[in-house]
Amino acid sequence: MPSIALREITDENRDAVAAIHAGPAEGRFVSSVADSIEEAAETSEGNPWYRAVYLDGEPVGFVMLSWDVTPDPPDIIGPWFLWKLLVDERHHGRGIGRAIVDEVVRLIRAEGATELLTSHVIGEGGPGGFYDRLGLVPTGALDSEGERILRLDLASVGCQESGRRWSRATPRTWMVSVPPR
Ligand SMILES: CC(C)(COP(=O)(O)OP(=O)(O)OC[C@H]1O[C@@H](n2cnc3c(N)ncnc32)[C@H](O)[C@@H]1OP(=O)(O)O)[C@@H](O)C(=O)NCCC(=O)NCCS
Repeated sequence: MPSIALREITDENRDAVAAIHAGPAEGRFVSSVADSIEEAAETSEGNPWYRAVYLDGEPVGFVMLSWDVTPDPPDIIGPWFLWKLLVDERHHGRGIGRAIVDEVVRLIRAEGATELLTSHVIGEGGPGGFYDRLGLVPTGALDSEGERILRLDLASVGCQESGRRWSRATPRTWMVSVPPR
């Protein structure tokens, strides 16, 4: 069964990870991997933490968080804020986005997080429906760029519940059932 893994971005994999393309949403609903990494370098007050997402040894996605940041709304939302999430368009609809969020939840829970926040641009073709499927709910607030802020209450999502297609193989290895292309 294929499984996703989060890996650090180094000189060795930087080009391959930068080649990940989220499709038409890129630029409108999410920035490119390269722009996201640049944004992280320019926004140290956001405590950026990012990883490449691998499936079967191939980079298929990118995720970036504000990691246990001191909130300063509406500019800095936190302490745990899903800042960027993208899956290569060739791999959309295979459960990878859900698997990434589940893995993020597992990681931040271990750090004592009780909620995961994110925000998204409102619009046709955007990720609103995706987040809704995962149980994130609007807080009613907007960030400084007018994006809708969403919240996932970590007390309300159990491991089995949030990862319906998941089984826990070992304490640190999550397996996700990804449908064939
Ligand atoms: C949004 C994104 C991360 C979703 O990743 P994905 O791997 O295709 O999503 P999954 O296959 O894990 O989908 C999980 C569920 O959400 C649903 N879903 C996925 N994208 C959706 C969308 N745009 N609208 C409505 N539902 C959606 C799926 O049908 C699935 O539902 P199910 O639980 O009933 O099966 C991916 O489409 C992407 O990278 N989009 C472009 C970048 C972007 O918008 N990122 C978010 C920036 S805030």
